[in-house]
Amino acid sequence: MSLPAPPKSAAAGPPRVRSATEALTPLIESTYTTPDITTYINGRRTIISNPNPHWTLLDYIRAQPNLKGTKLGCGEGGCGACTVVLQVPDIQSEKRRIKHLSVNACLFPLVGIDGKHVITVEGIGNVGRPHPLQERIAKLHGSQCGFCTPGIVMSLYAVVRNAYNPETKKFHLSAREIEMEGHLDGNLCRCTGYKPILQAAKTFVTEDLRGQLAEEDEPTTADAKNFEKDFIDLTQNGCAGRSKVSCGRPGGCCRDSPSDSSSAKSNSADSKSDASSPPTEPTLASDDEHIPTIVDAKEEPQPDPAISGAEYAKPLKSKEHGVAGETKTTTSAPEAPAASPEKGVPRIEFLEYVPDTELIFPSALWKYEPQALCYGNEKKIWFRPTKLEQLVELKDAYPSAKLVGGASEVQVEVRFKHSDFAVSVYISDIAELKQTKLPMEAELETAKELIVAANTPLTELEQICKQVYKKLGKRAMVLEALRKQLRYFAGRQIRNVASLAGNIVTASPISDANPVLVAAGATLEAINKNDGSIDLPMSKFFVAYRTTTLPPDAALHRIRIPLAPEGSREVLKAYKQAKRKDDDIAIVTAAFRVRLDANDLVEDISIVYGGMAPMTKESPKTQSALLGKPWFHSVTLDAALTALLEDYNLPYSVPGGMADYRKTLTLSLFFRFWHDSAAEFGLGNVDEQVIDEIHREISSGARDDYNPYEQRVVGKQVAHMSALKQCTGEAEYIDDMPRLDRELFGGLVMSTKAHAKILSIDWEPALKMPGVVGYIDRKSIPADVNIWGSIKKDEPFFAEDKVLSHGQVIGMVYADSALEAQAAARVVKVEYEVLPPILTIDEAIAAQSYFPHGKFLRKGLAIDDEMADAFAQCDRIFEGVSRLGGQEHFYLETNAALSIPSGEDGAIEVWSSTQNTMETQEFVSSVLGVPSNRVNARVKRMGGGFGGKESRSVPFAVYTAIAARKEKRPVRIMLNRDEDMLLSGQRHPFQARWKVGVSNEGKLLALEADVYNNGGFSQDMSGAVMDRCLTHFDNSYECPNVFLRGHVCRTNIHSNTAYRGFGAPQGMYFSETIMYNIAEGLGMDVDELRWKNLYKIGEHTPFFQKIDEDWHVPMLLQQLNKSSDYENRKAAVKDFNSKNRWRKRGICLVPCKFGLSFATALHLNQAGAYVKIYHDGSVLLHHGGTEMGQGLYTKMCQIAAQELGTPLDAIYTQDSQTYQIANASPTAASSGSDLNGMAIKNACDQINERLKPFREKLGKDAPLKALAHAAYIDRVNLAANGFWKMPKVGYAWGDTNLETVKPMYYYWTQGACCSEVELDLLTGDHTVLRSDIMMDVGNSINPAIDYGQIEGAFIQGQGLFTMEETLWARSGQLFTRGPGTYKIPGFSDIPQIFNASMLRYDNEGKPLSWNHLRSVQSSKGIGEPPLFLGSTVFFALREAVKAAREMNGKSVGGGDDGWALDSPATCERLRLGVGDGLVERARTVRNEGEANFLVAVA
Ligand SMILES: Cc1cc2nc3c(=O)[nH]c(=O)nc-3n(C[C@H](O)[C@H](O)[C@H](O)COP(=O)(O)OP(=O)(O)OC[C@H]3O[C@@H](n4cnc5c(N)ncnc54)[C@H](O)[C@@H]3O)c2cc1C
Ligand code: FES
Ligand code: FES
Repeated sequence: MSLPAPPKSAAAGPPRVRSATEALTPLIESTYTTPDITTYINGRRTIISNPNPHWTLLDYIRAQPNLKGTKLGCGEGGCGACTVVLQVPDIQSEKRRIKHLSVNACLFPLVGIDGKHVITVEGIGNVGRPHPLQERIAKLHGSQCGFCTPGIVMSLYAVVRNAYNPETKKFHLSAREIEMEGHLDGNLCRCTGYKPILQAAKTFVTEDLRGQLAEEDEPTTADAKNFEKDFIDLTQNGCAGRSKVSCGRPGGCCRDSPSDSSSAKSNSADSKSDASSPPTEPTLASDDEHIPTIVDAKEEPQPDPAISGAEYAKPLKSKEHGVAGETKTTTSAPEAPAASPEKGVPRIEFLEYVPDTELIFPSALWKYEPQALCYGNEKKIWFRPTKLEQLVELKDAYPSAKLVGGASEVQVEVRFKHSDFAVSVYISDIAELKQTKLPMEAELETAKELIVAANTPLTELEQICKQVYKKLGKRAMVLEALRKQLRYFAGRQIRNVASLAGNIVTASPISDANPVLVAAGATLEAINKNDGSIDLPMSKFFVAYRTTTLPPDAALHRIRIPLAPEGSREVLKAYKQAKRKDDDIAIVTAAFRVRLDANDLVEDISIVYGGMAPMTKESPKTQSALLGKPWFHSVTLDAALTALLEDYNLPYSVPGGMADYRKTLTLSLFFRFWHDSAAEFGLGNVDEQVIDEIHREISSGARDDYNPYEQRVVGKQVAHMSALKQCTGEAEYIDDMPRLDRELFGGLVMSTKAHAKILSIDWEPALKMPGVVGYIDRKSIPADVNIWGSIKKDEPFFAEDKVLSHGQVIGMVYADSALEAQAAARVVKVEYEVLPPILTIDEAIAAQSYFPHGKFLRKGLAIDDEMADAFAQCDRIFEGVSRLGGQEHFYLETNAALSIPSGEDGAIEVWSSTQNTMETQEFVSSVLGVPSNRVNARVKRMGGGFGGKESRSVPFAVYTAIAARKEKRPVRIMLNRDEDMLLSGQRHPFQARWKVGVSNEGKLLALEADVYNNGGFSQDMSGAVMDRCLTHFDNSYECPNVFLRGHVCRTNIHSNTAYRGFGAPQGMYFSETIMYNIAEGLGMDVDELRWKNLYKIGEHTPFFQKIDEDWHVPMLLQQLNKSSDYENRKAAVKDFNSKNRWRKRGICLVPCKFGLSFATALHLNQAGAYVKIYHDGSVLLHHGGTEMGQGLYTKMCQIAAQELGTPLDAIYTQDSQTYQIANASPTAASSGSDLNGMAIKNACDQINERLKPFREKLGKDAPLKALAHAAYIDRVNLAANGFWKMPKVGYAWGDTNLETVKPMYYYWTQGACCSEVELDLLTGDHTVLRSDIMMDVGNSINPAIDYGQIEGAFIQGQGLFTMEETLWARSGQLFTRGPGTYKIPGFSDIPQIFNASMLRYDNEGKPLSWNHLRSVQSSKGIGEPPLFLGSTVFFALREAVKAAREMNGKSVGGGDDGWALDSPATCERLRLGVGDGLVERARTVRNEGEANFLVAVA
């Protein structure tokens, strides 16, 4: 055990001149005793001896082969995929109690786990013995791709564990606690739409706490009741359509009689379950931590024989007999589905939660005495002092030592600014810094200030603020203001460890805490060796951008926060506005304090803003303008608003952008405070609505959760087959695969310029870096193969003499570890000659910069170029330009690949997180110069794809393959989040310049548009995306004369690509925007306009596809209108708006029709499958589809099980690979189930035919095992290759002949959605009050999975149309490169009430049949279609803004002042759209040539 020497490279820092070696060596020798971290991981004692000092906790965890469950999603604390739980003593408690802290392992310093118990997802359960939380999330469909799941499990685990109170011996939990207290605000999920996760978490309330509430006043009771009530009726007849039976939802259904509720059952049983026992042996618990069983275990769930029962090793008389009666014996013709209300109700049983089987705090840690520890190497050294004087000595010896508290700033700097901090000091284990002691009660009553230990974790501080405010009331308003800011400060995992000191010393201009502290007049107490304690007033602390008066050799010790003097008339409040309410940094944040004298005149005032200057700033002009003025007087308000604009006169091009919005917010937040404070002072009548900020309630909603058409296996609500593995962390993604012998890792060299000539590349410095083995670039492969592309091969793998986009790959360094490779890639020197970039569609149009496309849709008079005549027939013509921004896929697993060369024949195995095995194989074979039969491209699962891995995954596989071939060693790569966002392209931004003509009655007569998308620097699939946009431009409306022209813009942004919907959402968005513009122009109700123009059966689309008998949009609109109570709510919204000045609501009901097939890429509409039955009856299934969370493997196994008459668990799919299925189409276009399902059916048909004689001989009920065995003995081939190609489709562009034209799409998946929103007119914040979505999915193969797709797609669409905004710097650098700058919806953005249902009956209540559909099991593809319906939130918001504009006397729609709401409807656009006096006042003058700081490229 030897202590390290200080890094020689660490230079002396001012004000001292000694080197690190001189300064620190004596200290190390005198004070520091160990280089070992002593910790417990999942109950096991672990000593980490002198670890890599560059490692975070996540780096350490993921280096352990058995701990791959914890994921890397972003590395910046913004996604929660890396969440683990620290079990630590609760130092605030006087008893010996423990608490559980969720933390971001990606930021948490490894040194910080000394003396703590780290619990990872593996520690709480496994597939054999899952934790109830893991089991419930899996069973309730809360995991799709699963990459976010371990992190979410761990955040919830902390909630559940903390809910137990050993003093009362009771378990306290409420739905409010789960959902409303910010426990999940640091976790993102891109797949599920969150609802099922919340429902799974709430089962701990509804199941485990039923009737056993902790305390009388515990809100649990009410919440549990709400939760019950929340499952509101979806349709006229109860919660599940016309069924009178229970929908079977956990916790009970509104139709359950008390006797049949599962929870009633649970309480009646008396055996105790051991199911939640931890897999690791716990060490002895202290008595305090003995947790008694609080609920009785319930009966063991009975397995569903359709699902399980394939007991291969057992004699043939197995459970299979029970199901064989339903097995088809002769052919695989689908069982005729009959609608039956008794069928299809899922019954879900849960393991009991038994707290006393949980992992306990290791007794050895109670006794553990933390040592002053120190470890490192020649580059970096870590210190962990345990006493304040040790820290003071260290800072004195070496002032440049970087102090690290929660590391939420420091680690982000390390990761993104590559600051190395050669000497780092972890200070969060120093009791004097981390422990805030509250004064005794009596002292508190008279206290003049609260003294906070500088590194008190923010969640603790939040509690302290709450406690003191409760005690002191208005005197402690400052603490309530601070608590409010902290509630919406970062994510829970960060708040659990981050500190005020960290926030203050960082001196960020958008800090949330600093304005409150400055306004309150707080004083900082710093400490150093020379001066001892130093007082630093906050008002003078910030001197410039990220610069403070803290002496370099000092540490912050305490913060003194003054409380208002007893009897004073003082109000202090704080406000924050961000792009997303949860876990987002502020756009503008503010704190205001005003004290009035006895005459209501301003005696003292402090007005402090963040986000308006390079540092937190007081407002001198405004403050002096208000001193001595009567506070609640309109003249005073006016003076304040005028002075504020002088204090904050931002120019149009201000860094950070949004000048108008930020200025408007400055006024709006003050305006709110002025009212708020007047109400607090009791001065006159104050409009409450100005004061109230937008808030949400606990979410609720129903799935129409049963399936009357359920068959033996198909149609059942089977959980995703990997869900449990995903919940326990056992599901393996590419980067989780075990390290291979001599494996190398790639680090990409990427362009820092958007458009430039490459003058030189010097990679020599990289080769000298530690661990580096080699470098590849374009010269590593023949020139003619440095090219790829899905449709057109126009993109080089490695940049040649020019770079065309920021981030374009120039080369790749490979090294022994990923960190080494990435560090080395950064030192490759590239010299550029910068060229002007084209970024936006407008710039591309001006420069005529297009890719060849040239596809048109012409209908009616357009065919003969007579659109002028068509418009001449119209009574009214409207024109406009509409825009829709792009969207980052933000799958949680970034692109990853692993190439493993074979020693023989040039063969190679290439694992890739790809939706497209065939293209991966094709290009690896091309660059390596081997035939395709030497390349096995494989993928087991992806952590999300959404189209982003359809083509853009290919280069990463290729890079690893080139390096693997060169070195004859395996090479792996996994992109960092920022790299992935730069490289993988996005949804295409679109712009439409449209013209529409209608009759006075609102009948569409002519439509013409030039439609542009921003393709980026290469074509990828941009042309096909444009085609789908044009073919969805009609949405559901008939127009006799149509001329649509598509243009694909060539720009210098990343190459945009496929994204769920593939242009269709953009097309339908334009369609609905046009409908609103027409309605506004005609003064007609938009719903009436829609009805007038809805397609009727027999009519034709602009590409002459006939609307056939499958046309259900009118029915969907009618049924949803009724079930959502649309008409009444629409009237109520109008009424609300007429009565409310500062809040407006909007509601809409929008249809959608989505075409299924690979459109005109006819060759892709095919699929293959390979079914092998082993002689024990087990079935190995391969097909060309890939699993990205959408449940394809599950559905495909269901189809095979159904067709072969065997239980579901007899079917196994290992992965998708080109050695099993040749020429597989990408899994895309929502067609994965259709294509692969039919191919599987074809293979099963062949096998069933061969098994026919054996079924006749052994009986129709004979299990597959018996049949397979008999067939094998009789030498019958039990393997079959299935194939299917989609019939009927084959549209040829330009074919306008109704006789010859073939359909573009096989069928339409249809839907409708109603959303209602509420908008805060002062800030632009909004909440979705309710959404009801109804989809026509045909006969669903698995409704549970389809609901998951519907809800997940809707939320993704909601993000697209509201908060997700991609921005570039003017020089072409992508600005939104991670969860910090790019916001996707989080847990608290989902609709407060969210109901999803499927179309099952006609309007007369007769069951619908989809027998005319020739799709597999008459089902419909569902992955993409519901996404567009997220736009209902946009259109409802548009209605709300419109109501506000009407109130403010402004035009709406295509009015005179040209107002139009483009997508996304960000809070900025919404606020500026209101058009009130504050916006007008704040408007910035744009000087000649001035440009916005950031650019949106639509
Ligand atoms: C995803 C994410 C979201 C965030 N959201 C928000 C937000 O909503 N609002 C907001 O205001 N901030 C936010 N932040 C910023 C950051 O979390 C806060 O500033 C936090 O308070 C930093 O505390 P820390 O203990 O983690 O600091 P650290 O990262 O440990 O340290 C930050 C700086 O403070 C110094 N320091 C720490 N303690 C002391 C001390 N006792 N004496 C002297 N110097 C010290 C360190 O040397 C370092 O320079 C966010 C950060 C992330 C990564
Ligand atoms: S990986 Fe840690 S928060 Fe995203
Ligand atoms: S399941 Fe949450 S990100 Fe995929």
